[in-house]
Amino acid sequence: MKSIGDAMKVLGSMAKGQADFDAGAAQTAAAAIARHSAKTPALFEARETDPKSEAKPAIWADFADFTAKADALESAALEISETLTTPDELVPSVQRLGQACKACHSLYRE
Ligand code: HEC
Repeated sequence: MKSIGDAMKVLGSMAKGQADFDAGAAQTAAAAIARHSAKTPALFEARETDPKSEAKPAIWADFADFTAKADALESAALEISETLTTPDELVPSVQRLGQACKACHSLYRE
């Protein structure tokens, strides 16, 4: 999740104009999000026992849905990594990814 967050920051700062648009860097960041979201279900397969974890027990009550939400982020990020070429596409891409993050966090993260 930390790596996903870092990649999202790269995209977010470009979208806000805090960093210059760089299609290659944006595609790399989106590809990193896709790669890490593909690994997310495996990371959470075993029930979290760390008391500091923000993972909600609901994850293990409906692991299929949790996995579907990771898959949704993966496919959105993959598509963006293959198609994003202009600065105009940044804001909608970041919003689309942000919705996929939120869809999971709102149910499964404290
Ligand atoms: C399939 C579910 C899911 C998706 C999709 C998801 N997250 Fe998370 N995220 C979690 C869970 C669960 C935690 C809490 C993990 C913990 O504390 O053990 C978390 C925690 C985090 C954290 C806190 C740091 C950490 O390592 O715990 C950050 C930052 C984060 N997510 C960023 C993102 C961003 C950005 C996206 C979208 C690009 C995203 N996440 C998409 C489930 C998800």
